[in-house]
Amino acid sequence: MAEPSVTGSEELVLAFLAEAADDVVSGEAISDKLGLTRAAVWKHVEALRGQGYRIDAVASRGYRLVAVPDRLRALEIRPLLSTHDVGQVLHCHEELGSTNDEAKALADADAGHGEVVVAERQTGGRGRRGRGWVSPPRRNVAFSVILRPEELPPSRAPELTLVAAVAVCDALRHSGVDAGIKWPNDVLVGGRKIAGILTELSAESDRVHWVVVGVGVNVNARPSDFPEELRGQATSLLIEREHPSPRALFLAACLTSLEGWYDRHAEEGFAPIRQAWRERSVTLGQDVSVTTDGAQVTGRAEDIDETGALLVRTPAGLVRVTSGDVALLRPAAR
Ligand code: BTN
Repeated sequence: MAEPSVTGSEELVLAFLAEAADDVVSGEAISDKLGLTRAAVWKHVEALRGQGYRIDAVASRGYRLVAVPDRLRALEIRPLLSTHDVGQVLHCHEELGSTNDEAKALADADAGHGEVVVAERQTGGRGRRGRGWVSPPRRNVAFSVILRPEELPPSRAPELTLVAAVAVCDALRHSGVDAGIKWPNDVLVGGRKIAGILTELSAESDRVHWVVVGVGVNVNARPSDFPEELRGQATSLLIEREHPSPRALFLAACLTSLEGWYDRHAEEGFAPIRQAWRERSVTLGQDVSVTTDGAQVTGRAEDIDETGALLVRTPAGLVRVTSGDVALLRPAAR
């Protein structure tokens, strides 16, 4: 089900109020800037209040946006974005099977670079290596970004997985948790998983058509929201910080961070991403056991190479792993 529609003028009034942050904005300034009558401004403010926005009227001074509802719709997200492409077109849904599936269908139907699919609830969320992704409705953040890298050969597309991991890790760090990356792109806090990334692509031999980067972050999930078997392994911003986070704000931070690192990769190549990934890694220097197709590689995770592959020092020599699941044999203590 697509989100209920919101008029363009309402969104503009909201963006104006959001930009002013804690400041009071006069009705006159809004009407001048947006070319609306004062009565129309008042009507839009009333409509926004009816949708759960708290907008205080400050006597003879104007309006102040005090609180936004904890919903993931374009109206909540767009005013918080500072991107040029990523998230400028948002497809927000109450429920989807998987945001990655929706994004892939949109990409096949010519959706543009940076379009984002968001869902409050996924009924068939997918994880890496054929696993599922469970996320309680309205507590977390699940989104997929369509990327159309120009001039990136298909062989280098896996680099974007590490770009996304660095970006999500940074958004979490800015939210006040000590996040780190487990190869290739799980984001952990205190040894527990807080975010996962699923990257899918369509390409021909020498050209990438699109890459879909799907991100799930546990934002406001409580321990009881996770299936019992995951409780010891999963965490959320709420669990770590002991207070809820505004999801729209967090999502906007993720999209802004993703665009920043994506642009850096496009301009400077993989080298700065590799270095940023190393600096955020909780894998390197650890004893690991990697399950890769049909085999187990056990040893010390030494580095990632210039393609993003994991280099594991084993008794038989250095092994290069391009895909798989890493278990940290002595996870960092909390
Ligand atoms: C993993 O850690 O295995 C990857 C999890 C990726 C989950 C996200 S949620 C949004 C997007 N849609 C999906 O179906 N999966 C990704």
